[in-house]
Amino acid sequence: MSGTSADFSQWSTARLAEVERLLEQWVPAAAPAGLGAAMRYAVLDGGKRLRPLLVLATAEAVAGALPPAGAAAWRAACALELIHAYSLAHDDLPCMDNDVLRRGKPTLHVRFGEALALLAGDALQALAFELLLPPEASLEPALMVRLCRLLARAAGWDGMAGGQAIDLAGVGQLLDQTRLEDMHRRKTGALLLASVEMGAVASGANESALQALGRYGRALGLAFQVVDDILDVTADSATLGKTAGKDAAADKPTFVSLLGLEAAQAYADRLLAQAHEALEQAGLRRADHLHAIADWVVRRNH
Ligand code: IPE
Ligand code: IPE
Ligand code: MG
Ligand code: MG
Ligand code: MG
Repeated sequence: MSGTSADFSQWSTARLAEVERLLEQWVPAAAPAGLGAAMRYAVLDGGKRLRPLLVLATAEAVAGALPPAGAAAWRAACALELIHAYSLAHDDLPCMDNDVLRRGKPTLHVRFGEALALLAGDALQALAFELLLPPEASLEPALMVRLCRLLARAAGWDGMAGGQAIDLAGVGQLLDQTRLEDMHRRKTGALLLASVEMGAVASGANESALQALGRYGRALGLAFQVVDDILDVTADSATLGKTAGKDAAADKPTFVSLLGLEAAQAYADRLLAQAHEALEQAGLRRADHLHAIADWVVRRNH
């Protein structure tokens, strides 16, 4: 692996500044009757922005250069963050995890009420697809179709929404490792894999690079949720910006409840090694930022 953490931090600071600018521009304050304020509250000013960074790092790794302004990768990066923000708003609702703290602030429904939290989530999901279908037809139709298909599959019944259904049905149950992995791959892994795939497709990756990047995205996606489960036990609410200890309190099946802390961490480390190995096989022009993102996902403290 080449590159240093100073390189990565400089790279990600610059990319994040542009993502924030685009989100600020695209999430409409003008939406009626408080909806705009709720949508902007859910998206702006918070979050690690892992999914946009993954899209952009993959697009750059394939193309060997920063995507130009207006390129598909920027739209894909923001679309993924909108779907993610919507999934968090709904995940926090009283009918799901019933959380009051998110990204260091009161959750959307606490601040705006349940009805607006639901509607803001709905509107963010639709806006994500709108971003991928610009009216001026500045993107190739075939590329727009491919990106929308990847996002729809990852967000829907076979991805995030399906995983969330398994999560809720799993309360109080003992899932074995296969079923737990299936749940995690859908509820969290699918959008992370889609971030990698959409970044790759936006830069015109060939089939063999796509295959290897898919292995990277799958390993990373699963590792991410294993670490989320670990942090729920080991970190405090102030560091996380969300309520710690919720999984055990709600009797959720997690990798920590199944394996114990130490084995869950060892499992995340094995997935990290798989992610690095897959990248080596992808034949990319530059993979240092993708390697660094994998390390960050597994070594993060929030
Ligand atoms: C939290 O995701 C929810 C899961 C999918 C596990 P993140 O940890 O990426 O949340 P933010 O975007 O940084 O707030
Ligand atoms: C949520 O998983 C995954 C989503 C699809 C939003 P969690 O319920 O574990 O996420 P946190 O811990 O509340 O962020
Ligand atoms: Mg949940
Ligand atoms: Mg939750
Ligand atoms: Mg969690």
